[in-house]
Amino acid sequence: MRISVIGCGYLGAVHAASLVELGHEVVGIDVDERKSAALGHARSPFYEPGFQDLLEHSLASGRLSFSTDVTQAAGARVHFICVGTPQKHGEYGADLQFVQAAAESLLRVLEPGELVVGKSTVPVGTAAGLAQMYGEKVPGSLVAWNPEFLREGFAVRDTLHPDRLVYGIADGAEAATIESMLDEVYGPIVARGTPKVVTDYATAEMVKTAANSFLATKISFINAMAELCEATGADVKQLADAIGYDDRIGRKFLNAGLGFGGGCLPKDIRAFMARAGELGADQALTFLREVDNINMRRRIRMVELAREVCDGSLLGKRVAVLGAAFKPDSDDIRDSPALNVAAQLQLQGPSSG
Ligand SMILES: NC(=O)c1ccc[n+]([C@@H]2O[C@H](COP(=O)([O-])OP(=O)(O)OC[C@H]3O[C@@H](n4cnc5c(N)ncnc54)[C@H](O)[C@@H]3O)[C@@H](O)[C@H]2O)c1
Repeated sequence: MRISVIGCGYLGAVHAASLVELGHEVVGIDVDERKSAALGHARSPFYEPGFQDLLEHSLASGRLSFSTDVTQAAGARVHFICVGTPQKHGEYGADLQFVQAAAESLLRVLEPGELVVGKSTVPVGTAAGLAQMYGEKVPGSLVAWNPEFLREGFAVRDTLHPDRLVYGIADGAEAATIESMLDEVYGPIVARGTPKVVTDYATAEMVKTAANSFLATKISFINAMAELCEATGADVKQLADAIGYDDRIGRKFLNAGLGFGGGCLPKDIRAFMARAGELGADQALTFLREVDNINMRRRIRMVELAREVCDGSLLGKRVAVLGAAFKPDSDDIRDSPALNVAAQLQLQGPSSG
């Protein structure tokens, strides 16, 4: 199948190369000329284990290309939207300008019968809005929402071997066609019996933000326990092990530490709260504000601990901060707790950092 991928960042570039691996012919479109050129010359613009090899392999097949020109997406039966949805400046809500621009750019090539698939993490209601826009401007075109659950550091494996597929499809005469087009896209993944949830747009959009909210809550829960353990002399690692043996709880994501960061969890829980507020359901998610607060307190606590081991003052001390990315096996520094701690330390007057 000929497929286009609009937005070739951490998600889109891996998705594009993986689709080639699944047997398709793919063009990746990105407005960033340097990124697009690097990808086209088999140079990964970011660090992601296994991606460089996958990129080289996919390009060598002759079925993968990159461009800044959206007209190169003409003739694709499926167009994936994989652009960023960062937090708005000074607000909790998601900035949808890139999704909007990408969706509008597709109007130059989109034909009836072709399917636009959203992969970006978006506030609930976005897919319905885009479907309405396409319905008016390109009658007969199709829209689905297919959230992505890859983890940076495991992006290649997660894309080629996802633990589930979620298709958000509107009711109607075209629903079966859309589902079978997506099944064709994910052929080998569907064939090996990967769980598939076919649902409406709103549920598909919410699955992603609900999943990230749950994960963030789990991390902040154990970090709140860490605060109590500090106050009582209890051992948070043993506590995590002991509660983790309960398979209703599970041990994963129960590691107390510096908390979460990166380009997804922090902005996704904030965007979820903002959207709940717009929908008049803000009370349902007020707990996420506390999840966010606990998380941000970890960074402050880390600086306090550093000051304590420096006899109460960092003035004139030499301080080294090891690590800059938000997690291991990634070069992603978006909302990195490490950089936040480094910046706070710097303000406390060490002689060098
Ligand atoms: N990174 C992850 O681990 C991950 C996992 C799941 C979901 N997501 C979601 O996927 C989306 C993308 O995330 P990302 O980490 O890949 O972001 P990113 O910033 O790495 O990539 C986005 C890319 O889109 C490009 N772009 C912006 N506007 C464009 C346009 N109009 N046309 C073409 N390209 C355009 C940018 O140049 C950039 O290369 C976000 O909504 C994110 O929440 C990310």
